[in-house]
Amino acid sequence: MSRLIISYGVPLKGEVRISGAKNSVLPIMAASLLADSQSIIEEIPYLNDVRVMGDLINSLGASVNFSNTKTTISINPSEISNTTAPYELVNKMRASFLIMGPLLAKYGAAKIPLPGGCAIGSRPVDLHIKGFSAMGAEITQGHGYIEVKASSRLKGSKIYLDFPSVGATENIMMAAALSDGQTIIENAAIEPEIVDLATYLVTMGADIKGAGTDTIRINGVDRLHGANHTVIPDRIEAGTYMVAAAITGGDVKIDNVVPDHLKPVTAKLREAGVEVAEELTSVHVKAGDNIKAVDIKTHPYPGFPTDMQAQMTSLMTRAEGTSMVIETIFENRFMYVNELKRMGANIKIEGRSAIIEGNPTLLGAQVKATDLRAGAALVLAGLAAEGITEITDIEHIERGYVEIHNKLKSLGAKIVREE
Ligand code: UD1
Repeated sequence: MSRLIISYGVPLKGEVRISGAKNSVLPIMAASLLADSQSIIEEIPYLNDVRVMGDLINSLGASVNFSNTKTTISINPSEISNTTAPYELVNKMRASFLIMGPLLAKYGAAKIPLPGGCAIGSRPVDLHIKGFSAMGAEITQGHGYIEVKASSRLKGSKIYLDFPSVGATENIMMAAALSDGQTIIENAAIEPEIVDLATYLVTMGADIKGAGTDTIRINGVDRLHGANHTVIPDRIEAGTYMVAAAITGGDVKIDNVVPDHLKPVTAKLREAGVEVAEELTSVHVKAGDNIKAVDIKTHPYPGFPTDMQAQMTSLMTRAEGTSMVIETIFENRFMYVNELKRMGANIKIEGRSAIIEGNPTLLGAQVKATDLRAGAALVLAGLAAEGITEITDIEHIERGYVEIHNKLKSLGAKIVREE
């Protein structure tokens, strides 16, 4: 098992390049199954989750190849022979469920174990299933699997999502792209990753309008071909480095970003007294020693992202005053708080709220990453804590951050990764 050892260090300084978005590349890899020829996806982040999705697609019979530089992946789905996903892979990553829509639309069947993934509360897939059912699929469930079947091509339908779920919007959009007639998804998610997936699908020959708004119209087509696509930058990785700069009183240019996608994080950092200058494809973050307490409430895009909640809580542990962080998207997303408390943070949880009494002194300790963003929060706290912080279970962190120890080291952090 690997661990990260972080020593109290200097303010971070320099420039860091953000990788392609994990939450874009995963649905895009799933969507490549809809094609009848090879796709090439560029600017992929070479992460555990991306390797799991590669293995999953490969287990179905598709050929999957990473380039030598590990920044490009080619996927050829023309030899798919199997529509059952293996438990060992799906168990590792909830986003595996995104292959259901493409398999159902193209092969008329998919059998997938109920998904695993981050331990952040019960994460149902009922909205995905309701969408497939509205399009004419038959759903059965038992022995830990969900099976969907369609005796003929899926039929376009009007689907209202009770909640703008990112995964359900993506799964239904992919299925609808290769169906008969028109599908309208109402109350759709509007995250940038939805737009990126739609852009890829359109390059493959799909007819999709309105991605990025709450109503997406998809006119099904008869075939989709492989396509080349470059993944958008990871706004959560970028946000995490913005907080890394802020929490260490640093001065960091974060490159290869879409500043618009970072607006909710930028706004909160500015409110906390951090300087953020936006350029065309970068943001420059400068912070002094004094961070102001701010309240945060997570919301679907363009609200404050739940995937940045834990990192901002780490920042607030060092702020002057009391702040409140409210999580509205997931239950159980405060598990990291006990670890932060072991580092001297003063945080009280009440239901879905965390009340943080800021205190400039954090103390290094042995802590455990309980999920991906929780792990990132501990790395950030470790950068600002006196003494040494040792983080175990870092495989969670490496599901979502490319070379985090090397990127931080290049900014001057004292961080070592040990096997
Ligand atoms: C995606 C992201 C994840 C991010 C989340 C919210 C990927 C691979 N993951 O996850 O990093 O934290 O969006 O921005 O892109 N829900 C239901 N029924 C469903 C589906 C979802 O009740 O069928 C609920 C979930 O339990 C959760 C909420 O809706 O409370 C949001 O989930 P969703 O938007 O679907 O998140 P994911 O797509 O799983």
